[in-house]
Amino acid sequence: MLAVYAQSFSTDDPLSGLVVGDRPEPEAPEGWATVTVKAASINHHDVWSLRGVGLREESLPMILGCDAAGHDEDGNEVVVHSVISDPSWRGDETLDPRRSLLSEKHQGTFAEKVVVPRRNLLPKPAGLSFAEAACLPTAWLTAYRMLFTQSGLQPGGSVLVQGAGGGVATALIVLARAAGMRVYATSRDESKRQRALELGAHEVLESGARLPEKVDAVMETVGAATWSHSIKSLRPGGTVVISGATSGDAPSKAELTRIFFQQMRVHGSTMGTRDELARLVELCDVSGVRPLIDREIPMEDAAEGLAAVAAGDVFGKIVLTR
Ligand SMILES: NC(=O)c1ccc[n+]([C@@H]2O[C@H](COP(=O)([O-])OP(=O)(O)OC[C@H]3O[C@@H](n4cnc5c(N)ncnc54)[C@H](OP(=O)(O)O)[C@@H]3O)[C@@H](O)[C@H]2O)c1
Repeated sequence: MLAVYAQSFSTDDPLSGLVVGDRPEPEAPEGWATVTVKAASINHHDVWSLRGVGLREESLPMILGCDAAGHDEDGNEVVVHSVISDPSWRGDETLDPRRSLLSEKHQGTFAEKVVVPRRNLLPKPAGLSFAEAACLPTAWLTAYRMLFTQSGLQPGGSVLVQGAGGGVATALIVLARAAGMRVYATSRDESKRQRALELGAHEVLESGARLPEKVDAVMETVGAATWSHSIKSLRPGGTVVISGATSGDAPSKAELTRIFFQQMRVHGSTMGTRDELARLVELCDVSGVRPLIDREIPMEDAAEGLAAVAAGDVFGKIVLTR
């Protein structure tokens, strides 16, 4: 079957290890289901995988892709929850120390077919396209958990989203706005700042610029490049939720004094549970909120989409379609 996979790793030239070619069709073990993929969205995770972060040499070749929407064996339209926890694990799947995301231990979604534990399938509402549904399981689920589970934010609160153009960041802007929060965002790029305003942010500033007020919470996925600004933008007692560090995980100023003296909380966050994904799907279905898609491209042209994500040349999600 057609598949987009990592054949080797390169820190400096991640796309050099990418192959779009043939892989054997997967066989579903007992309790697993085969999904015929209609759409799969690209995440920065796929670029990390090509760089060899979070993936072991002996796992190669590995089909990339965490997110998918498609049909199960009975023709039902489904969305795939990407967090694969141990079958014996009970409770919040993201806290299972043995959990993995599709494309880390088990083959990923950038292929004609993917196999997943049957419990990881959720029904796709008819009102969501396959491409829209394929944006939800990683970037949008991460944003949902950061905002609604980890941050302590409530409607009427204020939030700063760093790096407005990213998949997680655009989701945060849309969801925070829909939930009645005052939304600030930053971006390095003027055209992305304009688009973030159109997307629903109340005010969008250059990266590092002073906000008109201190916010209740900051949503951080950029890491080193924006960390100091995130802490300086937070009100005393506020919370910074961090789920990524695209620009590096060792900021030159950790702002430790400011964090303890102003009694701030730093809350790590990763992906989300199956139940959170079910609520996110329902939220989209009942509210009309839809993921922002930068572009849809045929799966055969995955290299083009991965290059754009690696270069930061993206506003919203890039979706591979079949
Ligand atoms: N923990 C989890 O479960 C989880 C889930 C999803 C994602 N993540 C992580 O979160 C990060 C974002 O993921 P994504 O898929 O949303 O990535 P993405 O779509 O590639 O977004 C990255 C955004 O970060 C900003 N950025 C990158 N480098 C920057 C720099 N040097 N200075 C300022 N801003 C910079 C850019 O915003 P502007 O161009 O607008 O400035 C860019 O649009 C990744 O590191 C990813 O691995 C983690």
